Amino acid sequence: MEIAPSILTGGFTRLGQVMDDSVAAGISWIHLDIMDGNWVVNKTITFGPAVIKSIRNHVGSEVFLDCHLMVTNAEDTWQQYVDAGVDLVIFHVEAVEDIAGLITKIQSKGCQAGAVLNPATTSASILPHLADLDLVLVMSVVPGKGGQSFMAEMEGKVRGFRTAIDAQIAAGGRPTKLMIDGGIKAHNAAQVAEWGIEVAVVGSGLINDQGSIAENLAEIEQALSA
Ligand code: DX5
Ligand code: ZN
Repeated sequence: MEIAPSILTGGFTRLGQVMDDSVAAGISWIHLDIMDGNWVVNKTITFGPAVIKSIRNHVGSEVFLDCHLMVTNAEDTWQQYVDAGVDLVIFHVEAVEDIAGLITKIQSKGCQAGAVLNPATTSASILPHLADLDLVLVMSVVPGKGGQSFMAEMEGKVRGFRTAIDAQIAAGGRPTKLMIDGGIKAHNAAQVAEWGIEVAVVGSGLINDQGSIAENLAEIEQALSA
């Protein structure tokens, strides 16, 4: 299972350092949490396309960047994120009216398209689009901030997607990636890997006062190989 740091966790004055430490530790996928001050329940603002452009310039082309759009107007603004240099745009199905249309538009620009669902949203909203999606992201916390407790009750939803994606691949379809976000740490990483998750976003489990990013990543990877 691949680990994608949520670099938001490190604090905005340390973005460059967190990216450098992550890449030095072997990370090749970085997760960018975009909040517009409106969509998430706690009305947080994080950063937008201009900062992403700087991030892309800083990490170069080798690091895979996804943006997790927690915004009200993804259908109007998605292209700004593509132009800023992300490899994958992930939109919330709860915030988008024309899901099929948005997937097509993002992919037409040579960018990957992903869909994410809140803990309370059922997989039925995504399953009709699974064949076209490059990635499905299951939230294991209510989006809005890092450091929240992992919701183990997402197991059924994740396993359901795993089964559907495996069937799709067996039928010659798209190898849609399965990702999880929220509350992932060394103690539950192996659990979600066993559910069938391929990429886990990790914020506070990787970027914290207990250890360096390299040390925390090593601990997670040890738990995964045990
Ligand atoms: C939540 C964000 C997450 C989160 C991850 O709104 O989408 O990416 O900050 O942080 P941890 O791993 O601390 O839950
Ligand atoms: Zn996120």
